[in-house]
Amino acid sequence: MRAILLAGGAGTRLHPLTLAVSKQLMPVYNKPMVYYPLSTVMQAGLRDVLIVTTPEEGPRFRALLGTGAQWGMAFTYAEQPSPDGLAQAFLIGAAFLQGGPACLVLGDNLFHGTELAALTRACVADPAGATIFGTVVAHPERYGVLALDAAGRVTAIVEKPETPPSHFAVPGLYFYDDTVVTRAHALRPSARGELEITDLHAGYLRDGRLTAHRLGAATTWMDTGTHQSLLEAANFIEAIETRTGLLVGSPEETAFRQGWIDAAQLEALAAPLAKSPYGERLLTLARTGR
Ligand code: G1P
Repeated sequence: MRAILLAGGAGTRLHPLTLAVSKQLMPVYNKPMVYYPLSTVMQAGLRDVLIVTTPEEGPRFRALLGTGAQWGMAFTYAEQPSPDGLAQAFLIGAAFLQGGPACLVLGDNLFHGTELAALTRACVADPAGATIFGTVVAHPERYGVLALDAAGRVTAIVEKPETPPSHFAVPGLYFYDDTVVTRAHALRPSARGELEITDLHAGYLRDGRLTAHRLGAATTWMDTGTHQSLLEAANFIEAIETRTGLLVGSPEETAFRQGWIDAAQLEALAAPLAKSPYGERLLTLARTGR
């Protein structure tokens, strides 16, 4: 399975922060935002990633992430000329996906916890239909929201509803079988002129091919869509890293733990970063394995 990391978009809700720099390059505490969703797909075992950026920011993403080889991965880059909806990722990424199954992750979504790696690895091993997730949030109206029947089965997914049918928001991490590109081609722009990810999921649901896993307390999902949530995410990462002495959302550490790079390669990656606590932590990991 191959993954698409969507890092386009104008980031208008974060203006003026995002007037000159993409949202997904913004810091979340000590690392660029895009490191977090990238680490999430790495934990799922995915090494081939298409990084979709705005035309202006392509060079900056390339400067940050390179070819992926340094982390035992392979990155391909594509541009989204205008942000016409999340499902557009599958039109842009059609050739990259080579007719196979796909994971889509949004470049501004942060996950932390022990539960997700096993769940996502299962999706990669057996990509049947589409798999999405549901997470309880206080303000579901900001997201895609699951509507559930009395038995807890999904009956609909509603995008940013004024009156949310449940508290289960759908985070930006999705897995699809090999019909995804064909389905995306059949979508028509919504009233707001976008190819909606929610419409793609509605198609899978109609065909009885949609699985929605509800994530429990073992997973924290943070979004970074507002100034406040961006600060909250940074505070959250800072608290966990300070308390545990471990890194959250580090591609270098994830690559090492996956066995995609060895200790010597990790040490070489850490050396130029060694003046920062981030680099120090990677050096310790390379030298002690812990
Ligand atoms: C998008 C999706 C929404 C999802 C959210 C997760 O919204 O449309 O369904 O819940 O990402 O971050 P956006 O934040 O791009 O408006």
